[in-house]
Formats: sequence, C-alpha cells, structure tokens
Amino acid sequence: GDPGWSTTADVIVVGSGIAGLTCALRLRTQVEKVLLVTKTVLSAGSTQWAQGGIAAALDPEDSPEEHLQDTLVAGVGLCDEGAVRVLVTEGPQRVRELVALGAQFDRSPDGGILLTREGGHHRDRIAHAGGDATGAEISRALIDALDRVVNDPGIEVIEHALVVDLLQDASARVCGVTLHVIGEGEHGGVGAAYGRAVVLATGGLGQIYASTTNPSVATGDGMAAALRAGARLADLEFVQFHPTVMYLGEGSQGQQPLISEAVRGEGAFLVDDDGVRFMQGLHPMADLAPRDVVARAIVARMRETGAKHVWLDARHLGKDFLEKRFPSIVARSRELGVDPATQLIPVAPAQHYASGGVWTDLSGRSTLDGLYACGETACTGVHGANRLASNSLLEGLVFADRIAEDITARLAGGDLPPTEALAKDPADGVGLLDAERRLDVQRTMTDGSGPVRSAESTARTAARLRELLADPPGAVTTAAWETTNLAHLGLALTTAAHAREETRGGHERADFPDRDDRQWLGHLDHVRTPEGV
Ligand code: SIN
Repeated sequence: GDPGWSTTADVIVVGSGIAGLTCALRLRTQVEKVLLVTKTVLSAGSTQWAQGGIAAALDPEDSPEEHLQDTLVAGVGLCDEGAVRVLVTEGPQRVRELVALGAQFDRSPDGGILLTREGGHHRDRIAHAGGDATGAEISRALIDALDRVVNDPGIEVIEHALVVDLLQDASARVCGVTLHVIGEGEHGGVGAAYGRAVVLATGGLGQIYASTTNPSVATGDGMAAALRAGARLADLEFVQFHPTVMYLGEGSQGQQPLISEAVRGEGAFLVDDDGVRFMQGLHPMADLAPRDVVARAIVARMRETGAKHVWLDARHLGKDFLEKRFPSIVARSRELGVDPATQLIPVAPAQHYASGGVWTDLSGRSTLDGLYACGETACTGVHGANRLASNSLLEGLVFADRIAEDITARLAGGDLPPTEALAKDPADGVGLLDAERRLDVQRTMTDGSGPVRSAESTARTAARLRELLADPPGAVTTAAWETTNLAHLGLALTTAAHAREETRGGHERADFPDRDDRQWLGHLDHVRTPEGV
C-alpha cells in the first residue's frame, strides 16, 4: 500500500494543455516550488489538436459585451453570467500576453491579428495560427517558455505520470495526488506528490465515446479523481458533438479528423446526398448556427435519409485559398483520399467537448478545499448547455491566471497551511476495470448516452456500466485506471442524461424533444455517494 516514492511542492498542477502550462508558468514566479505532472509528454493532450482558434473581442469594432451575448445564447440559459463576464472581459488582455510570450497568430498585411468567424459568433473574433493549427502553436509557445525555465529549482516536471487519486487530510482538504509513473528511475511506479494545493487541468473525457475528436489520452482522469474524492461535478450531460468530423466509415474508432468550423466560417456549407443545403431556412445563421443546432440538424437529416453522413462543400473556396488557410486539414483529408478543393468532404457529428466538469467558482476553487480545476476539466459556468466555438482555449487561459493569483494570495496569507495526508492505498476501494473493457465502455456510452438519448437508452447504458464495474478487478495498470475513469464518469454522465427530461444544448432526449425552462433551468450535480460513484 505505501507509495514507492514521494515528492513535495507548494502546488501540484496536473496536465499540460493551455490551462496547466499557463497555470504552472504563472505560479512559478510566485511560489517556491511548482510540480507539473503530465500523463504522457508535455505536448500531448487536446490543446495541440485545436484548429479553429481562440475567441476574444480584439477587433475595435467588437466588444466583450457582444462576445458575452453570443456565449449566453449558445449556452441556452445555463451559463453563469458572472463567469462569462470574467471570460470575455479578461480574455483580450490574456491573449495579448500569450502573444508577448511568443505565440504567433496569423496576421494581415498591415500587421493586425487576423480574425475569423465560427458558429454562433456575430463578429469575426477568432484568432488563429498556422491557418488551422492554432492549438499546436499555442502549445509550442508555452512549452518553449517552460523550457526556458526548466532548470530552475522552482519548477519540476514529471512526464508519463497518470494521476490516480487525490490525497486528503482528516478534514477532506486536498493535499496531494497519487501518481502512477511509467518507467524506471527516481519517479517510477506508484508514488505520491504532496502539496498545499492541487490544480486539475487534465482536459476532457472524449474517449468515453467510440468516436471523438479528442486524442487517446482524453480519459477524464482529473474529473474522475475529483468525483471519487467527493468534489461536486456539474453539467456532465452537456456533451458537445462537433458537427463536421470527417466520416471514415462505420468501423472507425477513437480519434477522428476534425474539419474546423472555421471552414464554414470562410464560406463552406453542408449538403445532403441530393445536394440540398439543409441548414438554410432552419436557423437565421444557417451553416454558422451554434454547434448544437447544426449537429442536431445533421443527425436529423441522416435519420430521415438513412445516410451515414452528410457532406461539406468547400470546393468554391479554391485550391490556393484552401491550401493556405487550412494546410493541416487539406493535407490530412488528401492523405485520407478526399481533396477538399475538388471533392465533397463526408462529415458526421462526433464527440468533441465536455461542457461540464468539476464545479468551480470564479477563482477556480472546487468544493473541496485545496482543490482547483481548470480548462475542460472544470465547470466554471461559462459554457452552460453548449460551449461557444473557440471559447475553450480562452477559458483555460483566463481561469489559469485567476487560479494562480488565488493560490498565490492564499499561500502568502497563511491560508492552506501544510497538512498531513491520510494514508491511502491507491487501488483501495476502487474496483479497477480491466483495460480490455475500454471499447466495451465506449460502445455502451455511444449506444445509450450519445448524441440522442432516451429514458430507455440511458437506463440500458447505466445497467451495462454497473455490470462492467462489478466484474472481477483487472491488473493495476495505467490503462486499467483510464478505463475505470471512463466507466465512473460514464455512469455519472448517464445518470444526469437520464434525469434531465428535456432537450437543451448538447443534451438531446428523443422522448423529451423540447426545452423546458419551467423545470430545467438548474444544474444537475454529481457528488459521490457512500455506495460508490
Ligand atoms: C473548430 O475548429 O471547429 C473547433 C473549435 C472549437 O472547438 O472551439
């Protein structure tokens, strides 16, 4: 039961996307020691896959107030307006700081940052880099900044470290994490990192489903650990399905190629098998309606026609423009046998983003003392029932900064004094699911808790997940922990999807097709029950 090794820091940041890296870099100059841990390598994770960009009111014609309005409309009544106000007002300055740090956004000939449009935005306010490789450039800039300080004793980085569970003291305050580190050496195997605060920035849970735009590391590790520790999670039923993910055939599983909404932002449009532009007349913003509206229209059209996908037509944008503006998408599509300059692109919705997560306040504090959550892991309230395009990188950036500030102030003020973690065997009380069950969990979730749910389908999915979790435990490996995390979160998500008897944002119920503002303007919480998750 004892951890094989241990280390100590003031603050432990788990995850190395835009949220974790920003938070660690900000804290480094403020506290004596920051420990940054990441599951594989620093550059893995969802940030590097972000295409469209980062939204902020950078144009003098635009305003945070307009960005706020678009965000609230996309969130369909469930956004926390105070959190959105923080996001849109602090956002522009945080983006300028990212530029100062070295991130190179695409610019117009006169030197200004080029801005484009995506679904749900009434203005051009999406900054992008390398055309369609925005996340990769932001990740590069942040990792370069980290590299410049990595010999500094004030920051330690441990790669290949899966966060297993949270360590807590006798009053449930979070004061560390147990880690399973792949490899030999000083930090190999299961160990513990003790600290006065823990920031979870482990990204989303896309791998809960059989097909997703998220990389294979997106297994909701932070959310699941928070759930097991007794933190409040909220809005898990609001999963965003991206409308235009390249369709590679029914058997295609795991991470699928995203065709950025920015392609529609530049003028591409959806058609069905008969060439009908079905988004026209359905919504005033047509192909650039909020994401849930477009995804739902595609699913409906597929159901009506029996087709497995619809088409995205970008041909009129021309070869030269497409190659320059969307180099990664064009190259990847061609590799897969589709040339967007001359052919229609087959697309269908796939899981893209978890709008819910670990509930936090405006300082990123969860309901457990000492525990913070940031980025996709968190539920700050900025997304409500459906996240507005390109608000996710922005959320990571803005709230990482606030978390760093809050922790700095609390440590300086003597809040969060050192404390004693209760001894904990990482696998204690958690029946680990065999890693072989991953596809089973993913198919079960896709089947019953996917884009369209019902009372019957969610009940079936919950029953199957419970069955899987009751199986004899598998070997203690990182893959088994990931599969277990998927099942625990899948069950919490399915429970919420079962309870919410309406259709709103990313949550569609076949048996309750309408939105119900009389009953359902609140949030569904998930807190671990004594019987388990
Ligand atoms: C995209 O490029 O379409 C994705 C943007 C986002 O998820 O915000």
